[in-house]
Amino acid sequence: MKKVVVAGGGVLGTQIGLMCAYTGHDVTFWLRSESSIGRTTPKLDHYKKAMLNDLEAAKNLIGNPVGKLMYPRGLIKSWDGITAEAIDDLIKAGEKSMTDNIHIELDMKKAVEGADIVIESMAENPDAKIDVYEKMRNLLDEDTILVTNSSTLLPSTFAEHTGRPAKYLSLHFANTIWKNNTAEVMGHPGTDPEIYKKVVAFASEINMVPLELHKEQPGYILNSMLVPFLSAAQALWANEVADPKTIDLTWRLATGAPKGPFEILDIVGLETAYNINQMKPDAHDEGSLNNRIGKLLKEKIDKGETGINTGKGFYDYK
Ligand SMILES: NC(=O)c1ccc[n+]([C@@H]2O[C@H](COP(=O)([O-])OP(=O)(O)OC[C@H]3O[C@@H](n4cnc5c(N)ncnc54)[C@H](O)[C@@H]3O)[C@@H](O)[C@H]2O)c1
Repeated sequence: MKKVVVAGGGVLGTQIGLMCAYTGHDVTFWLRSESSIGRTTPKLDHYKKAMLNDLEAAKNLIGNPVGKLMYPRGLIKSWDGITAEAIDDLIKAGEKSMTDNIHIELDMKKAVEGADIVIESMAENPDAKIDVYEKMRNLLDEDTILVTNSSTLLPSTFAEHTGRPAKYLSLHFANTIWKNNTAEVMGHPGTDPEIYKKVVAFASEINMVPLELHKEQPGYILNSMLVPFLSAAQALWANEVADPKTIDLTWRLATGAPKGPFEILDIVGLETAYNINQMKPDAHDEGSLNNRIGKLLKEKIDKGETGINTGKGFYDYK
C-alpha cells in the first residue's frame, strides 16, 4: 500500500495518519471544511510531538529490564539490541516523514484519487458515516479498499452503502496507537477473504499487531471489555456514589492497573464517550441513568473539557 487516505482528522484519525506517514506511506486527510483543518492541524502537531517525545524518552529505557515492556512498540520495531544512536535516527527520520508525507484535502474526489486504502475515522455517528460513504462510493478507484475504525458499529451495517461490500471491513485501532499498537481486523459476511488478508498485511506494514476476529462482534475484542467497564464507572459517578478521582484511585490501588476509568476516558475523549452514550436505547428517556450520564458528559464538553486533547477533562493537564 502506498497512498493512504484518512477520512476524519479527530483524535484517532490524526494518530492513524501520523503512524502511516511515520512508516513511509503517503497520507492524505480528507476533511469536510476549513474549520475542520483548523481543528486537525493542532492535533497533528500535538500527536507528532508526543510520538517524538516518547522516542526520546525511550532512550532512558535502554538497559532497564522493564524497557522491553514500556517502549513505544509502534515506533521501534524491535527493542532487542536497540541503541541511543538508532533511536536518534528514528527521531530524525520520523520528524521528516511525519511532515513530508502528510497532506490535507477538502475536495473528496481529489483526496481519494489513486488511494490504495481509505481509512474512515469519523465521529461514531452512523448517519454521518453513511452520508460520507454514499458521497465517496462513486469517487473511489475500482481497487481501493475501504475500512472503518468504528469502535462499536458493525461493518455489515454500512457494507451496502459503500458500493464495494467485498472490499469493505473494519480495522480498529486503540488510542495512543504508537504505544498501544493493536489493530483489530473484522470483516462482515460479504468481505472478500483476500481483501481481509491484505488489510492484515497492511496493519503489520504500519507497525501494528493485527488481531484477527473470525466474526462480527459489536465492540470488537477491546471495546467488548472496555465499554462496559467505563459505563460502570460513569454510573457510579452519575449516581453520586463516588467522585471520579476516588473511583480511579480504587481501581488503581485494588488492581495495580496504571490508570483508572476516568483517566482512560480523558484519553479516549469525552466526545466519543458521549456519542457512545447517545446510542444507548434509554439515553433520551428523561431521568434514566444513561440520560443523566449523557447530560453530565455534555456539560463538560460544552465547557471545552473534552480530555487530554484539550488539556482538561476529568483532570487538568495544563
Ligand atoms: N477516541 C478513541 O479512543 C477511539 C479509539 C478507537 C476507535 N475510535 C473510533 O474512531 C472514530 C473517530 O473517533 P475520534 O475519537 O477520532 O473522534 P473525534 O470526535 O475526535 O473526531 C471525529 C472526526 O470526524 C469528523 N466528522 C464528524 N462528522 C463528520 C461528517 N459528517 N463528515 C466529515 N467528517 C466528519 C470530525 O470533523 C472529526 O475530525 C470513531 O468511529 C471512534 O469510534 C475512537
